[in-house]
Amino acid sequence: MPTAAPPVDLGVHYQPAGLSDRFALGVTRFLRLFADTFFAKRYGHRAVVLETVAAVPGMVGATLNHLKCLRRMQDDRGWIRTLMDEAENERMHLMTFIEVCKPTAFERFMVIAAQWVFYLFFFGLYLIAPKTAHRLVGYFEEEAVISYTHYLAEIDAGRSANVPAPAIALRYWDLPADATLRDVVLVVRADEAHHRDVNHGFANDLAGQPQGQIAPCPPHVELQPTWKTAA
Ligand SMILES: [Fe+2]
Ligand SMILES: [Fe+2]
Repeated sequence: MPTAAPPVDLGVHYQPAGLSDRFALGVTRFLRLFADTFFAKRYGHRAVVLETVAAVPGMVGATLNHLKCLRRMQDDRGWIRTLMDEAENERMHLMTFIEVCKPTAFERFMVIAAQWVFYLFFFGLYLIAPKTAHRLVGYFEEEAVISYTHYLAEIDAGRSANVPAPAIALRYWDLPADATLRDVVLVVRADEAHHRDVNHGFANDLAGQPQGQIAPCPPHVELQPTWKTAA
């Protein structure tokens, strides 16, 4: 039996409370429209390309919080590790979906172009408005939960083949040997729900509001480094 993915509340939506929240929601809706138009129902391709973007904010947030804590000589309350874990988790999503779906040459070009633009945009945004940056990620993750729910529906309807889970996914989420793509999408969606709530929680914290409920994260196995060779 595959490991049961933690339950996901699909109905979570943070109501924008001010101009910065509305800006974050507006950017998210615009990018969603762009992704819907470009990828339509090609969920595997959508996952590969968007996970290359999703893995950026955590590392930017971790870097800038790290530098801030060094400058101010203060504790980070666990934010840096949380954000680094998010970045790694999103990269593992990418390493998983790249085994399921190979991007086209044009998509690979898009990934390179998008990384330049998005990294610089998000770095600048986090520097001047970290609350807006976390709210933006919270909204991105709300959309990720919706997209992976659509992907599940495609698999259940037989329109996307429910292929065996890639080996890296079996190791990272400790899934049983007979796990399939459907099991993988379930744990990935639970990861996204966790990031959604963590980032809305960080934005709330920066606004001086209560953090709110945080969806549980599926267990992740720490992968051992393979760059170390025996002497
Ligand atoms: Fe992801
Ligand atoms: Fe995510």
